[in-house]
Amino acid sequence: MKKFLLFGILAIGCVATAKVVKIQLPVETAVYRAAEGSQIANSQCLTCHSADYAAMQPPKPRDFWVAEVGKMKAKYGAPIPDEQTNELIAYFSKNYGTDTAATTTSPVFDNTVLDPQVLATKMGCLNCHNVDKKVIGPAYKDVAAKYSKDPQAKDRVRQQITHGGSGKWGTVPMPAYTIMTDAQVDALANWVLSQKAQ
Ligand code: HEC
Ligand code: HEC
Repeated sequence: MKKFLLFGILAIGCVATAKVVKIQLPVETAVYRAAEGSQIANSQCLTCHSADYAAMQPPKPRDFWVAEVGKMKAKYGAPIPDEQTNELIAYFSKNYGTDTAATTTSPVFDNTVLDPQVLATKMGCLNCHNVDKKVIGPAYKDVAAKYSKDPQAKDRVRQQITHGGSGKWGTVPMPAYTIMTDAQVDALANWVLSQKAQ
């Protein structure tokens, strides 16, 4: 009884603080700040360590981020394609640096692309996923198998893509993708669910 009471008091305490303290969900703290370029950062810079590594740096000038991204590639073997390097440098200089006037030279995200394989590559899905093997995220054929009898399969996969999150396959969170159009998310969901075991 005593224990129960104590628990009750603690629970009330939590509810009371929840009103003033903004509770951060793990997904929000685990990914890079949403801004132009964050999709690439989330796909390229979460594979080895958390976003805390960048968040813990005091704001640094662009040169620091040029060196840092270069170091991740050269020293630690981060597989970042050259065309994404400038975009990453601009993103980090702007959002984790002192370079508020930075402009990305990257072309604007193309929302007309509907080929799922092109999208999966461009969005960085394939940095964490493979059709046949588990990488950081589950193999797409395993996702398709899991949902083969679920009439809501597509909604669930769409939800995963647009909201990200963890808990279905493990504790590692997937970043949320908010940049794509409905039709693009649809194309990706259909493609994932069409994968078959060989
Ligand atoms: C292939 C693995 C890998 C990838 C991908 C990667 N990093 Fe790192 N990163 C590391 C390692 C290893 C360290 C050093 C870890 C340690 O000392 O504990 C590190 C350290 C850091 C640090 C701390 C400062 C330092 O130089 O040690 C920052 C900031 C950082 N990474 C940013 C990034 C950013 C930004 C990206 C994406 C452009 C990225 N990392 C992608 C492996 C990676
Ligand atoms: C940084 C790594 C990462 C990236 C990038 C990534 N994912 Fe994931 N994905 C994961 C992880 C980890 C899980 C497992 C989440 C869980 O356990 O709930 C997952 C789960 C999934 C699932 C299974 C959902 C379910 O309901 O079981 C699908 C489908 C999926 N991802 C599709 C995508 C697509 C499409 C993209 C690109 C638009 C993408 N992922 C990008 C890591 C990633």
